[in-house]
Amino acid sequence: MAAVRIDGKAMAGKIREQLGQEVEVLKKKGINPSMALILVGDSPDSALYVRSKAKACEGAGGFAETHHLPEDSSLEQLLALIDKLNRDDSVHGILVQLPLPHHLHAYEKQVMDAIAPEKDIDAFHPVNIGNLVIGDKCYWGVTAYACVKILENLGVELKGKHAVVIGWSIEIGKPVAVMLFEKGCAVTLVHPEADFVPYTKQADILITEVGKPKAITGEMIKPGAIVIDTGSNWVDGKSVGDVDYDSAFEVAGYITPVPGGVGPMRIIMLIYNLVQAAKQKAGA
Ligand code: GUN
Repeated sequence: MAAVRIDGKAMAGKIREQLGQEVEVLKKKGINPSMALILVGDSPDSALYVRSKAKACEGAGGFAETHHLPEDSSLEQLLALIDKLNRDDSVHGILVQLPLPHHLHAYEKQVMDAIAPEKDIDAFHPVNIGNLVIGDKCYWGVTAYACVKILENLGVELKGKHAVVIGWSIEIGKPVAVMLFEKGCAVTLVHPEADFVPYTKQADILITEVGKPKAITGEMIKPGAIVIDTGSNWVDGKSVGDVDYDSAFEVAGYITPVPGGVGPMRIIMLIYNLVQAAKQKAGA
């Protein structure tokens, strides 16, 4: 039996509507959820991502302001801007678009750590990552959270399921493994450089962060599994997932397409985090 294709765009649209209602309530209390986006340099890709994040924020009724710093900005200039935004009460969320220009690459961690944890809507700050592991209240990283939200929206019981995460990063693999553990799953986290084939076959829920197009094929998947593909690999000018969609579609129970699966959910989870930040400010 063929899988159900998960429509991330439609799911994100519903969440945007709910967030829009929450934003209206906040505005009545005098709080306008506001996001500061910092873009350093002239990368057209980064500029496009920043525009789409600003648009998603405005689409939910919030306010987005982009601070565009020149390509040759110094670390001190960038840290001074973050410090100013940290202290600005009208700003609820701060995002520094990565990657930074080449001369600032080595300082990316220092830059991300400079964002106040309560405004860190990307959830890259060690305080947010640490609190996720502890199980305390914190922001959840948006790509990892997008995977969990997709699963929640499917309405399937997560408790007791075997989730296999083929991933490695602090944005996706590691946090999604912890989040699914928190939801009561038995979790196997496998580095994509390890031999992951013996594990994928055991997954009731398979999350992929492999970074190789079509690395996972139908015969590696347990029949009926939920397959969530966070991959976005550029092949001939097109975004291709880690999963070979056509063969996996014949075996899986549910599957996310690339594009149109995790991608649209990622951006809306950023706005979700922003609304949580604004609510915290409102004491709601
Ligand atoms: N560049 C690519 N993905 C991301 C992301 O999720 N957050 C930030 N800040 N920069 C990125």
